[in-house]
Amino acid sequence: MYLNKSTKIAFIGCGAVGKTLAVALSKAGYSVIAASSRTYSSAEDLASRIAGCVSYESIPEAALQADLIFITTFDSAIEPVVNSIKWSARQAAVHCSGASSLDVLKTAESQGASIGSFHPLQAFAGVDDALAALPGSTFGIEGEGQLKDYLTQLALDVGGKPIFLQSSDKPLYHASAVTLGGVLMGQIAVIAQIWQDRLGVERNEALKTLIPMVRGVADALEANGIPNGIAGPYVRGDIETVKKHLEAMRSVGIKEMQMYATTALAGIKFAAEKGVCSAEDVKVMKDLLNTYINNNPI
Ligand SMILES: NC(=O)c1ccc[n+]([C@@H]2O[C@H](COP(=O)([O-])OP(=O)(O)OC[C@H]3O[C@@H](n4cnc5c(N)ncnc54)[C@H](OP(=O)(O)O)[C@@H]3O)[C@@H](O)[C@H]2O)c1
Repeated sequence: MYLNKSTKIAFIGCGAVGKTLAVALSKAGYSVIAASSRTYSSAEDLASRIAGCVSYESIPEAALQADLIFITTFDSAIEPVVNSIKWSARQAAVHCSGASSLDVLKTAESQGASIGSFHPLQAFAGVDDALAALPGSTFGIEGEGQLKDYLTQLALDVGGKPIFLQSSDKPLYHASAVTLGGVLMGQIAVIAQIWQDRLGVERNEALKTLIPMVRGVADALEANGIPNGIAGPYVRGDIETVKKHLEAMRSVGIKEMQMYATTALAGIKFAAEKGVCSAEDVKVMKDLLNTYINNNPI
């Protein structure tokens, strides 16, 4: 296997990530030449975005055209798709899942192919938004030797920042990414719903107010780091305010109150580090949060 910019690349699985990476790599000068998916129209859609890229009805046939094959299907389809392809030593199989290990590629490896993973630490929905978000995004990379070097170069060439992962790091790496992405999105949606139900602001209108705050929070953390960038009454040791918040959230629902209380409790060690409130206040705050958490089972 020799990998360079003219290495022929195929994408199997033409959804948000497949389309976005294929277009980004093509724009960066790489040769994306084949696409196939469960539904042929998805492959046609990907291929129509890239000059010289051909859509294939047959997944094995698309894979046969290429040296580097990205498997960008749903996580559960990666292994069956890999098993349906005839691999050779000139090829590499790479998936983009943060949750799956390299084990799902073992059939490719047993037939001589190199294997790796290339996980963009970014939320993908629409292709245009995702393309705009790629520069500056982190890419979690697994692999060895030349493939690892090549995936590193791919990440750099789409404006990303590579980091290297051991298979044993994968579950925690992905859990942390989802806590930041999906779980944070869930929290924001819960808050927007509270605005709709209790403050009379339609939830998507509420988002227009809340999202600039999310950006401000990210900016404050980036500018000031941990612990100085962390703020809020639970950090200041403002016990009475936090008690009012817990009651207000409990009036909405136990789950909403637990969301506030458990997040604050997990972050309280940074309040202690920041040193803006006394050790005694930190202890009182912890006791208050634990009391609400333990006395209000979901
Ligand atoms: N979305 C994210 O934010 C994100 C971020 C980082 C990594 N990832 C990872 O990237 C990968 C792709 O995720 P995605 O968000 O792009 O998913 P997606 O938008 O749902 O696209 C998955 C694509 O794979 C196709 N597919 C499903 N089963 C298939 C099969 N058996 N054979 C061939 N194609 C099949 C789908 O069907 P059709 O052909 O019917 O369209 C669809 O086009 C996953 O491993 C995911 O964990 C996702």
